Amino acid sequence: MQDTRGAMDKERSTSQRNLRSFPYELRTFPSRVVDGGVPVEVARWQDAVSLGFHGDSTSGDDAVKFYATSEEVDGRMATGAYLKDAAAPAGAWGLEYPVATYAYHRKTLNVGGGTLLPVHQITAVTVRPSHRRRGLLRAMMGSDLAQAKAAGIPIAALTASEATIYGRFGFGVATHACDIEVAVKGGLEFIVPASASQGVVEIADATAVRDLHNGVFARVHGNTFGSIGRQDMYRMQASGQGNYGTLEPVKNIRAALHYDAAGAVDGYVTYKPVRDQAVPTVEVVDLLAATDAAYLALWNYLGSLDLIDVVKWGMAPLVDPLEWAMAAKRLYKRTAVEDHLWLRILDTPAALAAREYAVDGTVTVHVGDPLGHASGIFRITVVHGKATVTRCPEDGSVPVGLGMGVSELSSLYLGGVTARTLQAAGRVREEEAGAVAMFDALFATSVSPHCLTAF
Ligand SMILES: CC(C)(COP(=O)(O)OP(=O)(O)OC[C@H]1O[C@@H](n2cnc3c(N)ncnc32)[C@H](O)[C@@H]1OP(=O)(O)O)[C@@H](O)C(=O)NCCC(=O)NCCS
Repeated sequence: MQDTRGAMDKERSTSQRNLRSFPYELRTFPSRVVDGGVPVEVARWQDAVSLGFHGDSTSGDDAVKFYATSEEVDGRMATGAYLKDAAAPAGAWGLEYPVATYAYHRKTLNVGGGTLLPVHQITAVTVRPSHRRRGLLRAMMGSDLAQAKAAGIPIAALTASEATIYGRFGFGVATHACDIEVAVKGGLEFIVPASASQGVVEIADATAVRDLHNGVFARVHGNTFGSIGRQDMYRMQASGQGNYGTLEPVKNIRAALHYDAAGAVDGYVTYKPVRDQAVPTVEVVDLLAATDAAYLALWNYLGSLDLIDVVKWGMAPLVDPLEWAMAAKRLYKRTAVEDHLWLRILDTPAALAAREYAVDGTVTVHVGDPLGHASGIFRITVVHGKATVTRCPEDGSVPVGLGMGVSELSSLYLGGVTARTLQAAGRVREEEAGAVAMFDALFATSVSPHCLTAF
């Protein structure tokens, strides 16, 4: 458990240090198109983002308009850090280029029981190499999380380029994504063949997926525990019709749609052959299935691709029904498991009251938060699967069951890990015998959380 007071002192002294030596101004504006053109500040900001992620220069081409148009749909708000009281040397990028970038859009997180909770999704975090490790990320994150909290958003989220950056800001790993390789030479066999052959799978132009994406995703999002909203760009990248880095349609992306018994599309897969592999392979670009039947039928289709020995997918769930449907389980190989969705609780009572619980009971948790947003002692009382979360006095009058930091609570929130595991990892402290077991009984979920969105 983090020592809240010590952490807050450290935070205060860090921000005081930054105040003294922080020659930057943070400005926030919408990423959008105005009168058919991209405002200069948005264009310069896009260039800085592309620099940070080692993308191509976007100066003066149509890419910026394409990005801004898509981001406007998401209501994306961009923040730039600009040098103030300085002059740029001749020939160098001018002061209108931010030295650091950061953005958010707000969509929803499926926390189970049919609840879609508003979520603050952070993206486009970059710091110019010549300005790194001077506290720019810390300043942007601190200011943004405080504003999200003030706006009443109970939880923030991101997907991380590196696993070591965001824990210090209170984020915890909530879901994982797996790279899988399924050997399909000669076709996939299923233990219950009828379960993988319901409905119809047909080929379509990839552009059909661009148009179907939002409808299919809305269904998947609504019934997938741990799913987070997708940005507008997804329908383009899923269908190969353009993405950050390229506007050109990808010509070797193929699409197959799944139709249910009534003839409605309830899933699709887009995929492309990978020609430089020794083993004939296709890679799944995107796979969405609103029903179990669609999921298995689309895999049945992928297993029927002649001349292909292996199908790879980088977004498989940690617990995958496909693996249990296959006649030969060992033909399903999980080649990598990586942290995927990171959550950061901002409002502990609101976040905890929003999800549903497996059993009734009570547990009292002391939460530490270096930024102060989620900290306190909270009594969680579950009756009929719904929690009442009460903030308790911190004067020692209320016995605490267990203690943890907000990063740990955020990882435990969707049940992707147990308190017992985090206790064994030295990250959760049991103060009262049985509290860890009670916490795990309450937070247990019948399905493993899975998020199909990277942002
Ligand atoms: C990651 C990145 C944004 C960090 O920005 P920065 O301004 O250098 O970070 P700060 O100076 O504010 O550092 C804040 C803290 O994070 C730590 N930190 C920053 N980057 C880190 C990294 N890559 N790995 C581990 N720790 C890191 C710092 O040591 C510092 O720690 P402390 O304050 O607890 O002592 C920057 O290096 C970058 O642009 N990287 C390339 C793009 C990228 O990966 N973006 C993230 C996308 S999810």
